[in-house]
Amino acid sequence: MNVAAAFEELMGSSPQGVWFAPGRVNLIGEHTDYNDGFVLPFALAQRAVVAASRRDDDLLVMHALDLGEVMELPMAQVRPGTGGWSAYLAGVVWALREAGHDVGAMTLAVTSDVPHGAGLSSSAALECAVMAAACDLFAIDISPLTRAKLCQRAENEYVGAPTGLLDQAASTLCARDHGMFLDCRSFEATMVPLPLTEAGFEILVLDTHTPHSHVDGEYGERRATCEAAAAALGVPALRDVQDLDAALKRLTDERMRKRVRHVVTENERTLATLTAAQQGRLEDIPPLLDASHASMRDDYEITVPTVDLAVETAREAGALGARMTGGGFGGCIIAWCRSGAGEAVGEAVARAFTEAGFDAPTWFIATPSEGAGRLA
Ligand code: GLA
Repeated sequence: MNVAAAFEELMGSSPQGVWFAPGRVNLIGEHTDYNDGFVLPFALAQRAVVAASRRDDDLLVMHALDLGEVMELPMAQVRPGTGGWSAYLAGVVWALREAGHDVGAMTLAVTSDVPHGAGLSSSAALECAVMAAACDLFAIDISPLTRAKLCQRAENEYVGAPTGLLDQAASTLCARDHGMFLDCRSFEATMVPLPLTEAGFEILVLDTHTPHSHVDGEYGERRATCEAAAAALGVPALRDVQDLDAALKRLTDERMRKRVRHVVTENERTLATLTAAQQGRLEDIPPLLDASHASMRDDYEITVPTVDLAVETAREAGALGARMTGGGFGGCIIAWCRSGAGEAVGEAVARAFTEAGFDAPTWFIATPSEGAGRLA
């Protein structure tokens, strides 16, 4: 879609600019961000795009071009409680204002090709694209990390999903052909080369089309259990558990023990992935993906039958490693394949889904892409 042309048709004038922010795949480091741990996502070529202009009245006018819907909100009414898709846009304006930035009236027209509700951060892409637009239009000079944190605040307090920083940091900070290792305590980001094509690999992203939602209880329950476990162990966060065996001995609740084991081992796997990528040993990464999936399935208990079948079938069809990506309870898997082998893996999963009576999946080969920016 030509967003600038669509804007002009709606508004009778061309937009003052066009901005974008991508969806993301989390290569590894799942449910570690809110435990002050480590994540390693990369941004996708799929992105949200927003055409925007300042207005001289007092309205926030938001067009969802893909839905053909419009929502108008007086600036004074931009506060948590307005639901639906517009919350992802208005929430960013609210978070900027809460942080003391002078954001005025705007028209926003958004479109996105990030699959919705698939665990690929379609919501963070919208938030971070609007953030890029608002910062440019109102000359707000804040760092990319601060932008990501304000978008996270929009997601937490305006949309109402208690998520960590992973998605917004990836959408804002990532670089082309790189993964981003993020320490979610120090917020230090390390760009990690991912020369997949040169190394003879490709990453298949397969959407199981099993709907998931973070606003429902499971995500919040996992987060609360982790916080309770950290308190029981007397550490600020599960990131600080040094001796896993000793920690598991101290905890009596079996569910809590499993959650702790996932978080601690997932942090270790994420660090191992970082080291492998930094040393150019990409072939060492796929087994870590397999182990991550097993941990999410058995210890964190956030996978579902479609996702497990997709991962198993991908492995049988030749993927070198595979795991669910994102918050869980559905959404996408990633399968690390040799170059040219991904398509056949997708087809094998589709056949297995037909046999099992599941809805047909869709898939694409991922391209590690750059984070949010200005297009025009
Ligand atoms: C969702 C959240 C992230 C992160 C992942 C799980 O994507 O938005 O903050 O917690 O789940 O790793």
